[in-house]
Amino acid sequence: MMNVLIVGAGAVGAFYASRLAQVPNCQVSVVCRSNYKAVAANGFKVDSPKYGSYTFTPHRTLANPREASDSNIVWDYVVVSTKALPDVSDDSEILVGLVKEGHTAIVLIQNGLGVEEPYTKRFPAATVLSAVTIVSAAQTEPGVIKHNRWTRISIGPYLPGSTDTTIHNGDGKTAIERNKTFIKALQDGGVKDAEDYSHAKLQMVRWHKIAINASMNPSAVLSNGSTNNAMSADPELHRHLKGVMEEVLSVAPKVLGTPLPTDLATPEQILKSTMKNTSGSKPSMLLDWEQGKKMELEVILGNPIRIAREKGLEMPRLQSLYALLRMSQENRDKAKSKL
Ligand SMILES: NC(=O)c1ccc[n+]([C@@H]2O[C@H](COP(=O)([O-])OP(=O)(O)OC[C@H]3O[C@@H](n4cnc5c(N)ncnc54)[C@H](OP(=O)(O)O)[C@@H]3O)[C@@H](O)[C@H]2O)c1
Repeated sequence: MMNVLIVGAGAVGAFYASRLAQVPNCQVSVVCRSNYKAVAANGFKVDSPKYGSYTFTPHRTLANPREASDSNIVWDYVVVSTKALPDVSDDSEILVGLVKEGHTAIVLIQNGLGVEEPYTKRFPAATVLSAVTIVSAAQTEPGVIKHNRWTRISIGPYLPGSTDTTIHNGDGKTAIERNKTFIKALQDGGVKDAEDYSHAKLQMVRWHKIAINASMNPSAVLSNGSTNNAMSADPELHRHLKGVMEEVLSVAPKVLGTPLPTDLATPEQILKSTMKNTSGSKPSMLLDWEQGKKMELEVILGNPIRIAREKGLEMPRLQSLYALLRMSQENRDKAKSKL
């Protein structure tokens, strides 16, 4: 039996949990927070254009991490799918008491760069798997998950310093095997495009997703609530988005020390498909901004800028977006605290 624990059972966590739960030898439990009452009473209701409408009842619905460690279950995989907000909290702390080093693999399904570091620092002997998803999903009310489109998830063992030609040591081999087992479970649960990546390739995928997130997300907020489609159709914003993407994609190979694969979409291709997508979907940062929540600024903007700077590289377009948006968030929060 494979025991999986989801920490951060919101849109992404609950969606993938509901697919893993279809696999006969997989028991999926969740640590909830604000949705605990609803999930404990009714499980998750999932509505998907691909998988239909169904209920996912977790093996255990836990109110907090303490309940998860008191359960005495040895977790094979602990999946973290909270929003990555290192400026607010170090979520690796939640995992203390849940990770059996040498056994439990930590799976991070989060946007951004540098999300793995707090986990490798706190659990140096644990296997960390790094995942990037392009799913579009939302928790529309507590315990109700709307899957809009796409399922692809790319996962690779986090083995900094390794290259595809490195002969991995014992730990690396274990991580590669754990990665394959997790991917197979997702595929058996119907996520056919769960993809197995090496460490180096997965970091390339992270940088490529940054090109999209770091251009669209902050610009949607700074342009006072535009959809991706509206921005890509506006000539000046189109030029701006293309400029940001090109900046990220030109810096990424220099930081990673290897060219990006040629099969990844180019800025032109991304903008062309965004111009066609009239669904009116808003980027997550805009949704967070509109709800007065903290945005994933540090992992989507701050960390790429800092990682590049360590190599002597500047990203002026990204830096401007970061500086402006960080101060906007600070001013918004100051104004809120005076109310
Ligand atoms: N949604 C998408 O379509 C999508 C697509 C691609 C990538 N992503 C990325 O996936 C990650 C997760 O995003 P999401 O959209 O799933 O966010 P979300 O719906 O806000 O889910 C995050 C969940 O984590 C919970 N949480 C946070 N801190 C917790 C804690 N200390 N203990 C227990 N639960 C905690 C939140 O609970 P509360 O409700 O109590 O805050 C919430 O249920 C982000 O990095 C995002 O950028 C999202």
